[in-house]
Amino acid sequence: MTSLTPVITIDGPSGSGKGTVAGLLAQRLGWNLLDSGALYRLLAFAAGNHGVDLTNEEALKVLAAHLDVQFIAATDGKGQRIILEGEEVTDAIRNEQIGAGASMVASLSAVRDALLQRQRAFLDAPGLIADGRDMGTVVFPAAPLKIFLTASAEERARRRYLQLKGKVEGVSLPSLLDEIRARDERDMQRAVAPLKPAADAIQLDSTELSIEQVLEKILSEVASRDLAG
Ligand code: DC
Repeated sequence: MTSLTPVITIDGPSGSGKGTVAGLLAQRLGWNLLDSGALYRLLAFAAGNHGVDLTNEEALKVLAAHLDVQFIAATDGKGQRIILEGEEVTDAIRNEQIGAGASMVASLSAVRDALLQRQRAFLDAPGLIADGRDMGTVVFPAAPLKIFLTASAEERARRRYLQLKGKVEGVSLPSLLDEIRARDERDMQRAVAPLKPAADAIQLDSTELSIEQVLEKILSEVASRDLAG
């Protein structure tokens, strides 16, 4: 890693499309990908496996420092497989229950500190796309391009519903909207590293935009900054 390796941060609330955009951007540019939300989800999942309470900051800090996790780029170039303690958990960490647990552990400062270096270690040539809540504000404050991606809560709930329908039993739009609002509130109001745009972030509202349109807007910023070499 060198300080010349470029990083593009993409922060925003859940369901804004940033995960999809970050993955596609990494693929287009041939850069590395950090899905930082997955680290918080993995910690919540591992806590369940090890019987650690989600409010036990000391035990969660130790667990976070020793998380045995591998991110493996999928052979079709789309997405990545996630292995925790030798077990594939790619899909298992994506449900709303783990999302809520992730949001709880993410509010603990000892946990965030324990995961900081692990996140920075993803920065490697030729570049990094970092997806999360505090990528531009805390983890990579010197990033040359910072995006803050939003969408209305209703639109985000609708997108989540379409993702989960048919995969998860009993999923309902009103309950997803409630969960999204509760998670936004927790992520934005927490004392440590709250979800907020960096002062120098470009704000994009994706409510009325397709993924492809969001991608094109970001790629034009990449080109205007000459980041992709
Ligand atoms: O992006 P996601 O839904 O996978 O994130 C899961 C939770 O982790 C989310 O509620 C907020 C938290 N998170 C965070 O606090 N900081 C990050 N950089 C990424 C995620």
